[in-house]
Amino acid sequence: MTDAANDAAQHDGRDFATETPVVYVLNGPNLNLLGMREPEIYGHDTLDDIAGRLEDRAQELGLAIDLRQSNHEGHLIDWLHEAQAVGAVAVLLNAGAYTHTSVALHDAIKSIRTPVIEVHLSNPHRREEFRHRSYVGMAAKATVAGFGPASYSIALDAVLTL
Ligand code: DQA
Repeated sequence: MTDAANDAAQHDGRDFATETPVVYVLNGPNLNLLGMREPEIYGHDTLDDIAGRLEDRAQELGLAIDLRQSNHEGHLIDWLHEAQAVGAVAVLLNAGAYTHTSVALHDAIKSIRTPVIEVHLSNPHRREEFRHRSYVGMAAKATVAGFGPASYSIALDAVLTL
């Protein structure tokens, strides 16, 4: 299938081939370094490891995931808008450090009707004080944090309750 055909097909939020509802899984800065980045906090799994397990879980749940990572705030904002445009059923968002700084991400979450679940590997509330404020969490439907890589699959399971 061409990219254009696939894009068009996904406008109702379903994967073209399978008609499966799609969940966007968006990851922010430095999460591309998972596996080697502060493993005592974030563990040894890479983002690819997490993606693989999440795809398996999504299949069990009858969902499809579209997982992306960017170190750039604007990409995350564009992808939130896109999630709504294609009719994704939900977004799991680990915005990394932008969680604690980005009013623009806060506004983007509030600008779309697609439900956004904030996800963190660590529990920011048990860490430095500057991580205690979450501009993402203030706008998101819910937050899952502190379960390591399992935070993603717990959040995905929760999509079915939306
Ligand atoms: C994080 C927590 C943030 O405070 C931090 O800046 C990250 C990762 C987490 O998944 O635990 O980059 O979002």
